[in-house]
Amino acid sequence: MTLPTFPGPIDRPRRLRTSTAMRSLVREHTLRPADLVLPMFVREGATENRPVSSMPGVEQHTLDSLARAATEAVERGVGGVMLFGVPEHKDAVGSGATDPEGILNRALARLRSELGDSTVIMADLCLDEFTDHGHCGVLDDAGRVDNDATLGRYREMALAQAEAGAHLLGPSGMMDGQIAAVRDALDSAGHQDTAVYAYTAKYASAFYGPFREAVDSSLQGDRRTYQQDPANGREALRELELDVAEGADLVMVKPGLPYLDVLREISGASPVPVGAYQVSGEYAMIEAAAANGWIDRDRTVLESLLAFRRAGASTVLTYYASEVAGWYRDGLPPHLHEFL
Ligand code: PBG
Repeated sequence: MTLPTFPGPIDRPRRLRTSTAMRSLVREHTLRPADLVLPMFVREGATENRPVSSMPGVEQHTLDSLARAATEAVERGVGGVMLFGVPEHKDAVGSGATDPEGILNRALARLRSELGDSTVIMADLCLDEFTDHGHCGVLDDAGRVDNDATLGRYREMALAQAEAGAHLLGPSGMMDGQIAAVRDALDSAGHQDTAVYAYTAKYASAFYGPFREAVDSSLQGDRRTYQQDPANGREALRELELDVAEGADLVMVKPGLPYLDVLREISGASPVPVGAYQVSGEYAMIEAAAANGWIDRDRTVLESLLAFRRAGASTVLTYYASEVAGWYRDGLPPHLHEFL
């Protein structure tokens, strides 16, 4: 049988894809360096940087190398830096987190004195790097993470970080009431202008694997009694409602690419700016595949970051922040022009 001639489709979306100029004209989302936030690790007592083997290109910094790398990132135009401390000594209550001489607080003070208000200096507000058991809070007699006792520690930690000079605090421990507790502590001490970046939907994820190496984590077991179950989407909206009511200035979804659906929902519902965190495991997967020659690294990096923007993130925490900001500053090479 001879088929009749098909007259061809009426609608031709390909028209808008015919040339670089046409594609550029209709491009909905773009990236700019200021959309990107660089997470950084600083190690107490270190005299030289240590590479994180599962995150090629990422290091545990000394105070000096932290200041240099942060300054470079800021000169390239990143939107901010998020600091994580790796202390020399840990204990049950994470004393190093609230000690003004603790590594994270010293690093915050150093960056604030060198960078002032030229960027947004963010602090991870969580005990896990500082506790000998590795949990994000303090434990009760039965060894469970004690929500309300932990809030007391977060309040002290918030003050220490604000006093050290952090502009934006990121409570990442997923304790109930943590935003209200921290906000109240800040306000009572006259830190009304210190902002709070709520880790609103933070899942108990296997994608944090390499981060545990990056902070020399002591954790045995898991965080499933406080971080969210990866199977659940609806409760992210409940967490959003609570965090906003408690005074969150920004909210975050974490991890990133595996949770774009959650990001989309939160960005649709949130009255405050929304961020996403491309976590250590996401970084490690891109690096490992690229090292094997299986993907085009640079395009994959930008495509992944653009996906966050498309899904509704105003700001993206990524270990690629400084590098990518440098690409934009120097002018993207031709094979990356689709990301202009
Ligand atoms: C907790 C914290 C974690 C990450 C950021 N903050 C680890 C965890 O919850 O176990 C993970 C970040 C990453 O994987 O890149 N302080």
